[in-house]
Amino acid sequence: MGLLDDRVAVITGAGRGIGRACALTFVREGAHVVINDVDPEPLAEAQAACEAVRAGSATTHVGSVADRAATDELMKLAVDHFGQLDILVNNAGVTRDKMCHLMSDEHWDLVVDVSLRGTFNCIRSAAPYLRDVAKAEMEHHGRPIYHRKIVNFFSTAAIRGNPGQVNYTAAKMGNVGITRTVAQEWARFWINVNAVAPGFTNTRLTQPKSKGDELGVPEEQRQATLARIPMGRFGEPEDIANAVLFFASPLSDFITGQELNVSGGMQIP
Ligand SMILES: NC(=O)c1ccc[n+]([C@@H]2O[C@H](COP(=O)([O-])OP(=O)(O)OC[C@H]3O[C@@H](n4cnc5c(N)ncnc54)[C@H](O)[C@@H]3O)[C@@H](O)[C@H]2O)c1
Repeated sequence: MGLLDDRVAVITGAGRGIGRACALTFVREGAHVVINDVDPEPLAEAQAACEAVRAGSATTHVGSVADRAATDELMKLAVDHFGQLDILVNNAGVTRDKMCHLMSDEHWDLVVDVSLRGTFNCIRSAAPYLRDVAKAEMEHHGRPIYHRKIVNFFSTAAIRGNPGQVNYTAAKMGNVGITRTVAQEWARFWINVNAVAPGFTNTRLTQPKSKGDELGVPEEQRQATLARIPMGRFGEPEDIANAVLFFASPLSDFITGQELNVSGGMQIP
């Protein structure tokens, strides 16, 4: 018996890092997953890793969460391929760091479109399969048959504020607003909406950055962050995936509109 037996999950940005770890964790717990990413190659690797755990457990969708047509297609794929949609994990995110006075419109728009609009797009595109299905169950059975789940992402860096990330921190805190609002709008349909804030976690976003790299964090800043983590290590994608699993599973059926920091005890702010 797994915590997610008979459940179907869409996980965005699941080609790498935390999203991929969520996909593998969910498959190990019995779920079927539709994994999305803009990059087809890592996505195919993630699918192969899921299939190695359980054949037939994963299908892929290539497209951007910033594009409403793509998110409509993504949610429909879950239902066409696996028959239903129960869990949505809004993990996709990007960074393009610059101090506020140097931030370009292009980098503001990219980060906000992926990390904030992407969450909104996915939730709206999932509404027919989460909200409307639960509503029909209420009409037939007096209540929804089970809880459906949305897990959003924000960031401890966003809670604290982080020099060089005005676009990212604004987008990520916007996800807290979405979480608290949709949690209230959809509680009567037994759709739980919660959010996780990873602390500094070992992925492509936080790898040591050399001059000219688009992604990553300068080594000096990595070490300063490490010194603030009482547990003395960075997070691993699996640490975050375990918290996402909690919010995706029946263990959290009476919890909604909440945020959880997964940061090795780092005090915020
Ligand atoms: N790593 C950390 O320390 C950390 C800390 C706080 C929050 N987060 C958040 O965790 C989430 C996962 O980040 P990660 O560290 O695993 O990063 P990552 O770069 O390893 O993985 C993110 C994935 O999202 C994909 N992606 C980018 N744009 C996309 C789009 N428009 N549509 C669909 N997919 C897209 C990327 O191709 C990539 O595979 C993000 O929301 C990030 O902001 C990470």
